[in-house]
Amino acid sequence: MTPLPPFYDDLDATLAELWRLLADGAEHGRSGFHLPTLATLSPEGPRLRTVVLREADAATRTLRFHCDRRSDKAFELAGNPACALAVYDAGAKIQIRIEGRAVLHTDDAVAEAAWAGSRAMSRVCYASEPPPGTALPSGGAYTLLDEATAATTGRRHFCAVVVQAHRLDFLYLDRRGHRRAAWARDESGWDGGWVAP
Ligand SMILES: Cc1cc2nc3c(=O)[nH]c(=O)nc-3n(C[C@H](O)[C@H](O)[C@H](O)COP(=O)(O)O)c2cc1C
Repeated sequence: MTPLPPFYDDLDATLAELWRLLADGAEHGRSGFHLPTLATLSPEGPRLRTVVLREADAATRTLRFHCDRRSDKAFELAGNPACALAVYDAGAKIQIRIEGRAVLHTDDAVAEAAWAGSRAMSRVCYASEPPPGTALPSGGAYTLLDEATAATTGRRHFCAVVVQAHRLDFLYLDRRGHRRAAWARDESGWDGGWVAP
């Protein structure tokens, strides 16, 4: 039997582990926390999709991902910034859920820094035509510009989204007893406790 993880019955350590795993997920493509599912609210109801986690910062309780400002998710978040992210790492047997509010950065220092930190191959996606979600006459009837052109054209469509968390939920699965904890943000910080799994 593997030893219990150090955070197993330690609430503060669980919160620290939650942010550590998210930060690690943002940094490492092979982390099980690299590709959370993002939920937004459209006028028709909830919508889900995968995004790449680019940054997670416990100090500011923020997560960052990037999208095309012409995409449905960008319009949905502009209309209603309430959103949620969920990610499960089957190896770690840990699910993390985040609820928060999104701010879209398109023409400010946050967007500039995020664009500057993006790889050329990632920038190419933002220079695609027609815009994401447009109906096509055939599957390949869209264009991707070369990396040099995308560096300028793509920037116009690029959006860095920063989600500030106000609720967190952590679930660790273990045959010896699952552990679930949840936190809500108040003026003094994270108010959390153990929850029935
Ligand atoms: C592995 C993976 C990573 C993805 N990462 C992103 C991302 O970081 N940002 C993004 O806008 N779309 C990303 N996508 C595409 C979205 O999941 C989605 O299909 C697309 O953005 C359209 O979503 P929307 O119509 O809700 O805006 C990713 C898809 C996959 C499969």
